[in-house]
Amino acid sequence: MKKVFRYLENRLLDEIKKIQKQSEIDLKSCDSELKIDAWRVKYLGRKSRLSLILKDIKNLDPAMRKSVGLSGNRIRNKCQIMLEKALNDLKLEENDQISIEDYTLPGRFNQVGKLHPVTQTLREIKKTFVSLGFQIAEGPEIEWDKYNFDMLNIPDNHPARDMWDTMWIDEEKNSSGNKMLLRTHTSPVQARIMENQDPPIRVIVPGKCYRYESTDSTHEWHFYQVEGLAVDRKLTFSDLKGTLYEFVKKIFGSDTKIRFRCDYFPFVEPGVDMSIYWEGKWLEILGAGMVHPKVFEKAGYKDPELTGFAFGMGPERIAMIKHNIDDIRLFYSNDLRFLGQF
Ligand code: DAH
Repeated sequence: MKKVFRYLENRLLDEIKKIQKQSEIDLKSCDSELKIDAWRVKYLGRKSRLSLILKDIKNLDPAMRKSVGLSGNRIRNKCQIMLEKALNDLKLEENDQISIEDYTLPGRFNQVGKLHPVTQTLREIKKTFVSLGFQIAEGPEIEWDKYNFDMLNIPDNHPARDMWDTMWIDEEKNSSGNKMLLRTHTSPVQARIMENQDPPIRVIVPGKCYRYESTDSTHEWHFYQVEGLAVDRKLTFSDLKGTLYEFVKKIFGSDTKIRFRCDYFPFVEPGVDMSIYWEGKWLEILGAGMVHPKVFEKAGYKDPELTGFAFGMGPERIAMIKHNIDDIRLFYSNDLRFLGQF
């Protein structure tokens, strides 16, 4: 290489090195977006010295092009990385300053998950009965009419079927004479348990139910129930009363009064409903009774000394009484302003 070229090459490489040093020094004092942008124009802009050197490479002697090009591009890339880092640091710093110093900004909202009020009530009910020696069982929500009705002493075409407005899945009977439905109560699980298990039995069955009816403040087309069933030799109505009284005391408080009145459910005899005395009024909270002999017969139980009691309650209703809620539809309308209160 000619001496004059060597001299030019060294001068250019020196200059590039100086640009690098100066760019680092300059960037340190850039404490705003505006200043960083001015820095960008100075070191990376189209008219910056570095860009001009790189643009001019094609006019250099071929022997110099490689070293100047490599060095220039290396510094250019470095500046690019420094620029990104500076912008990023500035953003982080600004965020910090906002959270530490700007007390006028609204607080940051942390969403905290909670259990649904019906889930909370269901858990309380389950805990209470488990403490009384009951087991927890479940059954299908899509059910055969055999379990939802027939085995519970509600034969086809019997007027008692009108007590439960039913969502049928299949109006036609299948080859074994069954129709499919969404269970209207949790009582069919009683029949399923007795079909599969010998006494003694003490179970509760929490689960979802469905009814073909229009909704209002006390009715939903889908809701939960908790069924109870106890079967043993010589169980009496006193056992039923004692169990339910314990339950009420645990859920509503130890000085809560209860009242039983006669009621009709095809699968129990005698059948009752139970109310609690709450804020000056009697409020009905569940149906119950002694298991009807026909139900035992259909389950295949033959021991004449077997007796049993059963009950069924709605946890939504229990939550409504406890928390003074006046519309059941609130539970399932997904309004966090309501759900967040519990
Ligand atoms: N299954 C009844 C209903 O949905 C509630 C019920 C009443 C369940 C009495 C029972 C019972 O086990 O003994 O209306």
